[in-house]
Amino acid sequence: MSPSSRAFATAQVQAGYDAGIAEHTAVPSIHQSNAFEFRSLSEARDLFALRRDGNIYSRAANPTVLVFEKRVAELEGGVAAAGVASGQAAVAIALLALARQGEHIVAARQLYGGTVDLLQDTFADWGIEVTFVDQDDTDAWAAAVRPTTRAFFAESITNPIAQVLDVRAVADLAHRAGVPLVIDATVATPYLQRVKDLGADITVHSATKFLGGHGTSLGGVIVDLGTFDFTAEPERWPQLTRTYPRVPTGSLVERFGATGSPYIALVKTKYVHDLGPSLSAFNAFQLLQGLETLDLRIARHSASALEVARFLEGHDAVARVHHPGLESSRWHALAMEYLPRGASSVFAFDLPGSDDAEADFALVEAFIARLRLVKLVANIGDARSLVAHPSSMTHSHLSPAQLADAGITPTTIRLSIGLEDPADIVADLAQALVGVTTSPAARAAAAASASQLAASSAR
Ligand SMILES: Cc1ncc(COP(=O)(O)O)c(C=O)c1O
Repeated sequence: MSPSSRAFATAQVQAGYDAGIAEHTAVPSIHQSNAFEFRSLSEARDLFALRRDGNIYSRAANPTVLVFEKRVAELEGGVAAAGVASGQAAVAIALLALARQGEHIVAARQLYGGTVDLLQDTFADWGIEVTFVDQDDTDAWAAAVRPTTRAFFAESITNPIAQVLDVRAVADLAHRAGVPLVIDATVATPYLQRVKDLGADITVHSATKFLGGHGTSLGGVIVDLGTFDFTAEPERWPQLTRTYPRVPTGSLVERFGATGSPYIALVKTKYVHDLGPSLSAFNAFQLLQGLETLDLRIARHSASALEVARFLEGHDAVARVHHPGLESSRWHALAMEYLPRGASSVFAFDLPGSDDAEADFALVEAFIARLRLVKLVANIGDARSLVAHPSSMTHSHLSPAQLADAGITPTTIRLSIGLEDPADIVADLAQALVGVTTSPAARAAAAASASQLAASSAR
């Protein structure tokens, strides 16, 4: 139909756009389209049968998301990646594609609280059992293995205690058990550590945090590092090695084994397709913008965080600082070996605790109420410096025993150091620490001043 003969309502939907024209934009475009036009029904039939690659529908694949996936895969040294709607979706789907009902996962017990909720509640509902082990206890990892185990899972730098995982030791144990090691590398990012070089097989990220880096967009990504051979024991992985009903010609290993990733094909064509946690094109665009400055930001984040940690360690009102860059940290030697560029910017410190939970909470509340530059926000990896109280916020669903196992006390405070001038961050913490004391009378006064401050800021 020629432009002059089409009606207004037709033109307002179709004029000026040809789905086949590349615009040669220098920056990846936002392909904000739910679906893609096929050149013929035969092409559509081939795409649906996974006989050729291409765009069908943005729930499963989108060109902007694809750029993000390729970029993260390359930064990790991986073979393929799947972008998803959040870090939570990345963890859930990465593991669901490995462990099915009746199967089992061994996971570190020092995980982000939302991941613990997912593994101990929702995975249990679905008949997938998880054994949590102290991530430093290699005997515990080995002892937890069952015939049904299908993955080992841990964070390379934990949130909030910044515990450094001995990735190589845990990877060796996973491989001895015949399963892949899946690493949540959200805090470290591939700039600080390429876990592929240490034996990991799959990484996941909450791209919401440092990959995006500006606190604007939720996203997650799963990367197949291409190191795990699912054909070595094919009966363990029927989802990859047996005929896949969605590929008429055989298994995912047969279709994608030589050129791509059968595992990422399963993640995309089954779990993202069926459950629907897709990364939006707009968020992928924002995350790509963030990725462009990843090295510069992480170098600054890491250096500033270490400076702040050193300041806190020298302060009388601080009981303990959990930062692996400090010589006093149990994980300092591992950080020196595995994280030569720095240890990222999420770490925690403890104010002096007591045996009175209410008084401890009041002390933390009074400290946080005095902060001005550092904001009370449930996030990490933002350009802004953020503070959180894990036991009443991000990790509040954990039992007292789980909190203790994760090294979190009632007075543990998490920081995510941003890109502001580090001297200003230190000055803010210094002024907020004035008045922090262990004496009961001073604590009561601090609590009273905190509630006054809270009341005046609510007005
Ligand atoms: C280490 C880690 N993994 C996963 C997640 C979940 O990510 P998202 O909030 O993007 O779902 C978080 C969130 O804080 C996290 O800190």
